[in-house]
Amino acid sequence: MNSLAILGGLPARDTKINPWPKWPVWDEKEEKALIEVLNSGVWSYNGPKETEFNKNFAEYTGVKYAVSAANGTVTLQMALEACGIGVGDEVILPGLTWQATAATILDVNATPILVDVLEDTWCIDPKEIEKAITPRTKAIVAVHLYGSFSDMDEILRIAKEHNLYVIEDCAHKHGGEWNGKKAGSIGDIGSFSYQLSKHLTAGEGGTVTTNNFELYEKLDALRNCGRRPEPVTDVKADKGEGVYFDAGNFCQSGNYRITEFQAAILIEGLKRLPEQNKVRDENAIYLNSLIISIPGISPMKRYPQETKEAYFNFAFRYDATGFKGLPNAKFRAALTAELGIEVAPSYIPLNKCSLYVPLTKPARHKLSEEYWKAIDPERFDLPVCDKIHFEGSACIHHKILMGTKADMELVAAAIQKIYDQSENL
Ligand SMILES: Cc1ncc(COP(=O)(O)O)c(C=O)c1O
Repeated sequence: MNSLAILGGLPARDTKINPWPKWPVWDEKEEKALIEVLNSGVWSYNGPKETEFNKNFAEYTGVKYAVSAANGTVTLQMALEACGIGVGDEVILPGLTWQATAATILDVNATPILVDVLEDTWCIDPKEIEKAITPRTKAIVAVHLYGSFSDMDEILRIAKEHNLYVIEDCAHKHGGEWNGKKAGSIGDIGSFSYQLSKHLTAGEGGTVTTNNFELYEKLDALRNCGRRPEPVTDVKADKGEGVYFDAGNFCQSGNYRITEFQAAILIEGLKRLPEQNKVRDENAIYLNSLIISIPGISPMKRYPQETKEAYFNFAFRYDATGFKGLPNAKFRAALTAELGIEVAPSYIPLNKCSLYVPLTKPARHKLSEEYWKAIDPERFDLPVCDKIHFEGSACIHHKILMGTKADMELVAAAIQKIYDQSENL
């Protein structure tokens, strides 16, 4: 029997000979588009590529408006600000997410309320949302994590009952559908990221999506130093006559604009996204059907409402008790060695995340003793997030889902190999 790669045996995949599919994906179409931007001299600021991408992304997502910006952190901040969220307001979010989801709530001087997630999706637990609602609650940020969807039916029900905004953090969900509606078109605002690891990328970048004209106006101004949106012909329907805004500032804001180079790459990437999502989904379904029979391994839950899937990572659940007691970290290290690609834990719960430490910014955030206490992440107890991160997660870059069925069989065989030899670790 071939011993485990981590112990010096042959890996399940020798990535020097047989690399995983490359990410990001590009070809001469991106090269041509970038040269076009270069030669045009219009490198930023409401240029033709930005306008075209916003239009295409709005159409693809099934919303009236899309506004692109520098990254998926500022788009979250813009979303919160557009909803008028600030001092004294509370925003409920899952404790298991990238730090930006919470940090941007602090950046508008509101209070992030971290709540626990569901064990089978790793997304926010609607029951925990209900428990966390107070008269100060203004919004719920639902993060569709890795390849899972937040339970949007429950979240919308709760939001309606308590008159709350719903912001979807879709940094991992470009193209995913819930009941036939795309992520980012279900809540009041969707926020997307195009950072390099994301499954639609321009290296960096972000977009906010909405169907609400008032929110759109604010979002557009917020990304552009507070300037009023320029005349936009296709929003006439919302305002009756032609839409021509007064010159002058709309609000105070910074420069969060996207460049034409990013937009040019995104226009091409978006054309590829539906097919790439389809391939990733077919492979994920097949891979899940193989690994479900390995003791201690459980695929992520897929709701019947998930009519189209989108994967930022291929994630699955791990239970050491079913895996002959092998600790999660050792399992991931062994699988990393077999596959030649990092198998990472989930995000660290935000109450333990060294990148989410609001109390290190006292000059900015210490508005009062009460606020200081309210934003201390350590006040939150997140047992499910802890269990997922410290004991039960495995996440692999989505490029492993872009290969063949044989690749999926290889991943499943590598997991089985570790199970069979786990007593050696
Ligand atoms: C869930 C989530 N939200 C927001 C962001 C922020 O996006 P960006 O890196 O584009 O600022 C990320 C980035 O990793 C993310 O994973």
